[in-house]
Amino acid sequence: VKHLKIGLLGLGVVGSGVVQVIAKNSEKIFSTTGIKLEVVKALVRAKEEKQALASEYGFSLVHDSEDIMNDPEIDIVVEVMGKIEPAKTFISAALNKGKHVVSANKDLIAQYGNELVALAQQNGCYFYYEASVAGGIPILRTLVTSFLADEITEIFGIVNGTTNYMLTQMVKHHLSYEDSLKQAQKLGFAESDPTNDVDGIDAAYKAVILTRFAFQQDLGMNDFTIQGIREMDLADLELAQRLGYEVKLIARIKNSITGVYADVAPKLIPQHHPLASVSDELNGVFVKSKGIGESMFYGPGAGSLPTATSVVNDLAVIAQRTNQDLPTTPFIEYKKQVNLQKKAN
Ligand code: HSE
Repeated sequence: VKHLKIGLLGLGVVGSGVVQVIAKNSEKIFSTTGIKLEVVKALVRAKEEKQALASEYGFSLVHDSEDIMNDPEIDIVVEVMGKIEPAKTFISAALNKGKHVVSANKDLIAQYGNELVALAQQNGCYFYYEASVAGGIPILRTLVTSFLADEITEIFGIVNGTTNYMLTQMVKHHLSYEDSLKQAQKLGFAESDPTNDVDGIDAAYKAVILTRFAFQQDLGMNDFTIQGIREMDLADLELAQRLGYEVKLIARIKNSITGVYADVAPKLIPQHHPLASVSDELNGVFVKSKGIGESMFYGPGAGSLPTATSVVNDLAVIAQRTNQDLPTTPFIEYKKQVNLQKKAN
């Protein structure tokens, strides 16, 4: 039996989910790919807290990333720590050691994707990150593989669960902005510092990644306007509802002959539009294309099991391709220079 051995960087909400999803689906993955996925090591800060999980699933805990990078047995590194550093240094080290990498880190991929993708290519490694946008919704691979015979013209995405939860709860339960934010933090949807969520930065990271997959263009964070929901109050949302709209934080990317236009801002969505029914912490990505017309991809944008499932699916794709001796191709190839259009048509 062929094995692919995995080193986990991080064993928090998503990392422990990854361990469980692999255990639950190991037989199915083996029967479809011919490979057994096996977690052998996990990098953690406090070993004591995670010892029970490690013993139950039979892997060891390490404090030093070198224990993973220098282990020749480890084929794939899964980065589920979040933030830029030390994740960036660890991923670069893994790729330089010829290890494939799967990550769920939208901040890192949006800002340093070029560098990491180039490094992966130089080293003949896979670098997959389906879980970085819209958590459990398999949107990135869908955009590259299921629109080959089509031409995407526009994407409207509700891609931040925290702000969608807040906007929904405010109108549903007449909550203030502050109280709905507290709720979102309590339920674990918000980032540890929710600034990126409420100011639209998290949605903007996801817009950058979506632009690469939908339009093969590389958008910088300074190339488009980003507005969050800090200014919204309950009265605005209730007035919008009375007029037949829901307010949603929308990451919009439009492609036309003159270039790409993107923005992140709260928008009025007519109540009959399918995005209006994407409520609470859920995400929805509405795609307009010349062939299919309008399609929407809907589901959980965060959470342990959905995100971990998406990460493990990336691992299964690597297993399948490796076992079939297919060439290591990049997740997406995009142009480095974006053809920008500052104003929408
Ligand atoms: N804070 C993010 C959100 C988590 O609310 O969508 C998933 O990226």
